Amino acid sequence: MAGKTRRSQAWFGGHDRDAFIHRSWMKNGGAPADSFDGRPVIGICNTFSELTPCNRHFRELAEKVKYGVLQAGGFPLEFPVMSLGETNLRPTAMLFRNLASMDVEESIRANPIDGVVLLTGCDKTTPSLVMGAASCDLPTIVVSGGPMLSGRFHGRVLGSGTDVWRLSEEVRAGTLPLHEFLDAEAANSRSVGHCNTMGTASTMATMVEALGIALPTNAAIPGPDARRNTLAQLAGRRIVQMVEEDLVLSKILTREAFENAVKVIGAVGGSTNSVIHLLAIAGRMGVKFELDDWDRLGRDLPCIVDLMPSGRFLMEDFYYAGGVPVVMKELGERLHTGALTCTGRSVAENVADAVCWNREVIRPIDNPVEPQGGLAVLRGNLAPRGAVFKPSAATPALMQHRGPAVVFTSIEDFHARVDDPELPITADSVMVLQNCGPKGYPGMPEVGNMPIPQKLLKQGVRDMVRVSDARMSGTAYGTVVLHVAPEAAAGGPLALVRDGDMIELDVQARRLHLDVPDEVLERRRADWRPPPPGMVGGYQSLYVEHVQQADLGADLDFLVGCRGAAVPRENH
Ligand code: FES
Repeated sequence: MAGKTRRSQAWFGGHDRDAFIHRSWMKNGGAPADSFDGRPVIGICNTFSELTPCNRHFRELAEKVKYGVLQAGGFPLEFPVMSLGETNLRPTAMLFRNLASMDVEESIRANPIDGVVLLTGCDKTTPSLVMGAASCDLPTIVVSGGPMLSGRFHGRVLGSGTDVWRLSEEVRAGTLPLHEFLDAEAANSRSVGHCNTMGTASTMATMVEALGIALPTNAAIPGPDARRNTLAQLAGRRIVQMVEEDLVLSKILTREAFENAVKVIGAVGGSTNSVIHLLAIAGRMGVKFELDDWDRLGRDLPCIVDLMPSGRFLMEDFYYAGGVPVVMKELGERLHTGALTCTGRSVAENVADAVCWNREVIRPIDNPVEPQGGLAVLRGNLAPRGAVFKPSAATPALMQHRGPAVVFTSIEDFHARVDDPELPITADSVMVLQNCGPKGYPGMPEVGNMPIPQKLLKQGVRDMVRVSDARMSGTAYGTVVLHVAPEAAAGGPLALVRDGDMIELDVQARRLHLDVPDEVLERRRADWRPPPPGMVGGYQSLYVEHVQQADLGADLDFLVGCRGAAVPRENH
């Protein structure tokens, strides 16, 4: 172990004054002298925060990673980075994904670290950490925090988010008493862990496993399950070996890995948010990977997992059924089975022994839950650079639809008018929401699944076609067109829609059309003015100035790419 030249030795090696300083100050924590002898120094990048309830248990998880690192002969050093809690952050956690990724990238590069373990859980913590690490390209492994246990309430199962939307619609429709709704709060989130549906957090945990940068079974082990701690220890051991093998991220995050991730996400009915995050990670890694790849790779791919929000079960059930390794084994040669993973083995080797223990939760590939599980990319004069649609979350009868637009110019405008009894809207209308894209909000919030107007709810309407430049919570559902690009605030055609315009949606044909003559649209464009800026100065200004559109992953333009881990200059 001793004597190998490692990145960390540029700090800890040698006998000069600087090496004295680097080692001496680290010894104030009690590190023995041989901690600096050339053994792999492993950074544990921790998103613990009490303001990120999904990552609340990460202090313990980090301890388990440290055990593993020590067992394998490494030197573990934990460091905090900005933590993004989906439920508390305003105006939206997505505004800060790129900021957190900068924190991660600079923290890794600037420190004496040979390999990194990323502790991720809540939605944005996974992409922000992977994006930052990808821009450095050191040996890296992800440990997710795991989903919460299934919610239980009044004899029924509650799924994070999904049942919140459902219950709140029932309250608005007058079919659920408010006190029962409030009683459900504690039952909905009854253990540590992230959302227990196949929402964005679970999709992100699935994504890193499918990409090959997390150990098999990472995605589904519940947060409180002892086996989550075991996985953390094993990851601690494995990252030390990855440093020995120089198994850097770029050897794993190849084009093949991204294609595998798209297919696995389709097969589990994953969140629409994965599109934006995977594009951003590919951009950091310098892998050519585009929005249309999602549609092409996922078009004939069945969804074989029966999980909420589209299906019946929760992540806990998914783990007991065998989790992601079973899904990858079912997909078989549809995947690049020879792709290298963080275990040092191929995908095929990782999943060879996977066994399905519940065929209701994970179906065989020839008896899928949905024959078309992938995400659809729509185009047309309303979305020249694309829009995203999740067929498995939609109402089949609405996937080919023509209806008049009811336009809301902001989410505040929507809230002010949606329940007005005079609002001229029917079940055939298409609700359009403008100015909720990356620049417009700013930060592209999860408001695309606009609640159904109360008067329609009372008529029994539970779904309508909705179109916006916003995102949607991965726990949500409905016939919802999202991520319209270019967004309204960037002058996209979405900004030109007016009440009564006819909109045509044809998911099978991948078409989203605004049936208004071009000359009319040109006149409207001449009158269009961008919305006034929100906060002036600070990070928000930087974000609005530099954020890319959704079809490119909404990263900041100057953060795209891999800059490596070299630091040419000393600090003394
Ligand atoms: Fe954190 Fe859903 S709110 S994972």
